[in-house]
Amino acid sequence: MLRLDNVTKIYASPNGQVHALDGVSLDVAAGEFVVLRGPSGSGKTTLLMTVAGMQKPTGGVVSFKETDLYAMTPTQRARFRADNIGFVFQMFHLVPYLNVLDNVLLASGAKGANHSPAQAQALIEKLGLSGRDSHKPSQLSAGEKQRVAIARAMLNKPRVIVADEPTGNLDPENAAVVLGYLSEFHKGGGTVVIVTHGAEADQFADRIISLQAGRIRHEN
Ligand SMILES: Nc1ncnc2c1ncn2[C@@H]1O[C@H](COP(=O)(O)OP(=O)(O)OP(=O)(O)O)[C@@H](O)[C@H]1O
Ligand SMILES: [Mg+2]
Repeated sequence: MLRLDNVTKIYASPNGQVHALDGVSLDVAAGEFVVLRGPSGSGKTTLLMTVAGMQKPTGGVVSFKETDLYAMTPTQRARFRADNIGFVFQMFHLVPYLNVLDNVLLASGAKGANHSPAQAQALIEKLGLSGRDSHKPSQLSAGEKQRVAIARAMLNKPRVIVADEPTGNLDPENAAVVLGYLSEFHKGGGTVVIVTHGAEADQFADRIISLQAGRIRHEN
């Protein structure tokens, strides 16, 4: 489903070059639940952004079902991403001046499709956010914010959800709830690639991959 072939990412910085990804090759099968681990700065976010079509690698090929993501034009890629990939950020990335419903519906705009508010509303209810649809992000708890972010990632019924420490800012109870939704998406046939430090996601993982200094250290 997802394939990285000798992917490198070099950032230029005033202190010289940073080899954030140093030759990463990886295959993720359709329906797999992959957990990615590694110390701070090991390249996890860079890898997720690259896999999700949001950041062009310096070298190597990233393909999604045989389609070379970075051979597309940026517009084609944005469209492809909206159709196929939902992304959940560590820091929620909700739009502060939009309410819950409009934050969820934002994904529909990215796709250029017309999702009815009813579809977004159904997701809001499914994620236990009934009665919160007119709240702004500042009027939500951390767990609620992350559930809004998951609803947004799911709106277009993507084939893959990529999540960067989605439970990093949550207490254990809310973390379990968020992981439960990701597991449900996975059980319904979805593919999940997730960065997480805690052990809570291990029970759902088909595979745990460790990244160190931009390289895959071991797979099990
Ligand atoms: N835009 C950038 N410009 C220069 N260097 C960057 C940039 N983004 C990331 N880096 C560097 O690339 C390396 C990998 O960063 P990345 O964000 O992928 O790490 P991470 O594994 O997600 O870390 P964390 O667990 O702290 O989130 C780090 O050394 C970081 O300093
Ligand atoms: Mg990171």
